[in-house]
Amino acid sequence: MSSSFPLFPPAASTSAAEMDLLYLFIVAVSAFFAVLVIVLVAAFTVKFRRRRPDDVGADIHGSLALELTWTFIPFVLSMVMFVWGAQVFFDLSRPPRNAMDLYVVGKQWMWKVQHPEGVREINEMHVPIGRPVRITLGSEDVLHDYSIPAFRVKMDAVPGKWTTMWFEATQVGTFPIFCAEYCGTKHSGMLAQVIVMTPQDYEAWLAGGRSTGSAVENGERLFTDLACITCHQGDATARGPSLAGLFGSTVALVDGRRVVADDNYLRESIMNSQAKVVQGYQPIMPAFQGMISEENLMQLIAYIKTLKPASPEAK
Ligand code: CUA
Repeated sequence: MSSSFPLFPPAASTSAAEMDLLYLFIVAVSAFFAVLVIVLVAAFTVKFRRRRPDDVGADIHGSLALELTWTFIPFVLSMVMFVWGAQVFFDLSRPPRNAMDLYVVGKQWMWKVQHPEGVREINEMHVPIGRPVRITLGSEDVLHDYSIPAFRVKMDAVPGKWTTMWFEATQVGTFPIFCAEYCGTKHSGMLAQVIVMTPQDYEAWLAGGRSTGSAVENGERLFTDLACITCHQGDATARGPSLAGLFGSTVALVDGRRVVADDNYLRESIMNSQAKVVQGYQPIMPAFQGMISEENLMQLIAYIKTLKPASPEAK
């Protein structure tokens, strides 16, 4: 799109071109049929108008060929939109394995960004070009929505759970971030900027930032400060299950269900510890709802994810 007529925001991510193409296809198909219908309505109005007061219309009953045609063509077109759209959707919902992590928390009315290395920022997000970035998104109060039009990505920030999104920037520059979910008085002012830098500039920026310890280090400190460590020491006699190797594994619960220990499972098991009690353990863990912020929770879980099984024979 030409910049003198900015119908579209700049396309600055790997998924932007595909998204725009799909969008243009849907608009083109819709426009074609809208024009076709309007033209035919106008033409038929003239062609089949009543010419004499005693005109009687011809009585027409069905046409199999016509009905098959107007069923088949829209079917094919809508299936193209569906399959293509699903493909774009799946690409956008599956972050590449080598993605770097960023943690973003929305609250009335600002965006707080945390880098794994410990640097934090408010209403700005620095990212390197050419590297997939996975964002773990939380909310401290109400629904928000993290929307970066230049990357063609947006995701709801939902209180009580985490969502993820990812992108890979392809252009150095500064692009706006909007809150795209009405969240109160200053919703329209809940703006931020993503600053895309070359990898060298990004490293320099990270090194120059004030770090209060990496996310994992802070998480490890919280693990001790919140006394998680007293019950989750990792041995068989402990009051709580070992957390080593937990992330991504399947957990058996007291009620017989089996669940995968993903981000939201870990989050819920800390905030609302009675929701899913692990088989073989008593429901004695306190709930940390209201006692720990979303940001600290993200650090704590970043640390828990690093806990690997101690040794093969411990299993
Ligand atoms: Cu936050 Cu709208």
